[in-house]
Amino acid sequence: MKIDVIRKLPEHLDTLILMQEENGTIQNIEYVPTELLHSIDAYMKNEEFNFSFNSVKSFSMIVAKRRVNIILIGAGDKDALTTNKLRSMFASAIRLASSMNARQIYLFPGFISPVNDVAFGHVLAESALLVAYRFDKYLSSGKNKAFPETLHYVLNTKNTRHLNRGILEGRIYAEATNLARELVNEPANVMTPDALAEAAKRAALQYGFLIETIAQDKLRRIKMDAFLSVGRGSVKEPKLIIMRFNGNPDKRQEVIALVGKGLTYDSGGYCIKTPDGMVNMKNDMGGAAAVIGAMCAIASMKLKVNVVAIVAACENMISGDAYRPGDIVTSMSGKTIEVINTDAEGRLTLCDAIHYAIEKEHADRIVDIATLTGAAVAALGNQYSVVLTNNETWLEQLKSAAAFTGENIWQLPAHDEYKELIKSEIADMKNVGGPLGGAITAGLFLREFVQNKPWLHIDIAGTALRAKESGVNPFGATGVGVRLLTSLLKSME
Ligand code: BES
Ligand code: MG
Ligand code: ZN
Repeated sequence: MKIDVIRKLPEHLDTLILMQEENGTIQNIEYVPTELLHSIDAYMKNEEFNFSFNSVKSFSMIVAKRRVNIILIGAGDKDALTTNKLRSMFASAIRLASSMNARQIYLFPGFISPVNDVAFGHVLAESALLVAYRFDKYLSSGKNKAFPETLHYVLNTKNTRHLNRGILEGRIYAEATNLARELVNEPANVMTPDALAEAAKRAALQYGFLIETIAQDKLRRIKMDAFLSVGRGSVKEPKLIIMRFNGNPDKRQEVIALVGKGLTYDSGGYCIKTPDGMVNMKNDMGGAAAVIGAMCAIASMKLKVNVVAIVAACENMISGDAYRPGDIVTSMSGKTIEVINTDAEGRLTLCDAIHYAIEKEHADRIVDIATLTGAAVAALGNQYSVVLTNNETWLEQLKSAAAFTGENIWQLPAHDEYKELIKSEIADMKNVGGPLGGAITAGLFLREFVQNKPWLHIDIAGTALRAKESGVNPFGATGVGVRLLTSLLKSME
């Protein structure tokens, strides 16, 4: 979809979206032919439509013998508008426009927005492109209908520089998110650890970051045994994927590690899941997709940061050689782990990936992002991701990023008392902490590997997938984390 800013309307209109503040009047919207505005105004009064926040109304009219689709969308109190509110307004309006088969959309603001031009352009483009995403490549027929070709933002201004910069940035955020969505939506029979590594290589080539992959033999040599144990039950070999972007060549600048959980499938292993619990487990590489997507956006914007992204990609399956409950594995760090439950596999892969990031890539700070626990879903449902941290200052930065991107996060306590729950009698720790506080004990397990470096832990088990489209999210993978991580890194330039 093309997105541009124009000052002149063409002769024939296809679809108009009029945004207006609550109780605002239609008549003062510039550029729209007065005649048309009068008819819309009359229609609106008849329908008692008052533009309360996120209310929509759509209808068509015949203007000069041609059908024009009209979509009215309410902004509510314009002074209370935020980027998040704009995003959901744009999402509703553009969804509606495409259901009306719009090809050319003209969007008119009926008021001066309090959101600055860069942010406005950003959310406009981002929402449009996020809404346009569909995973329909496996449908032989009945693919979802064509999306609008162009979204024209009609504005009486000569200076479109900031708006256009925002549009460009919003496009980068959305495209990177859509790439992550695609990786997650691909089923596990296609998106194997190898396929994930290949997809990351293609992304690296396209967006301009470095990539290296490490195969099983070498992983054995560097003793990533916690990670390797998880992958042992699968015929698909594990792969460590390392991506680098050095946007700030100053050596003194710190290295930020983004570590994403990359289980291309999680059957639970010998602690096997129920069919219901297993059916969506192709999404267990949602964290990996988030860091790959973020690398694309970061490299594309050439942010002045040094980032390394690490994905320990593997599949949790069952075989004669799979790891078992009761095994004791030695992680790369040397810490030993008693495996109580083979379904708590994510933390075993992540602890080695985190250790690798610090020891081999000299990471100074770590963000890990993972579809880690059912407990995170039980705690916060589908609306908020769980976060834990050992650094409140850095968390504040993540909160600001989340406020901008609309990817909600909520902190759970990383209190030392919970550590009791993962103590083992026969190893340095065990991989589950029992039924209570599961999202916290999983996080605290990982904190043992960050060597007191600033650390943010994001559990996206509840937010990575949607059973129903809503806002900018389609059915299926949301691509959560791509925009959040990109925004966080942007604030660290
Ligand atoms: N990948 C799952 C977590 C998950 C659950 C993600 C639901 C998305 C939706 C993880 O590997 C897992 O199985 N966790 C277990 C841990 C338990 C055995 C301590 C869980 O949450 O049940
Ligand atoms: Mg599991
Ligand atoms: Zn898992």
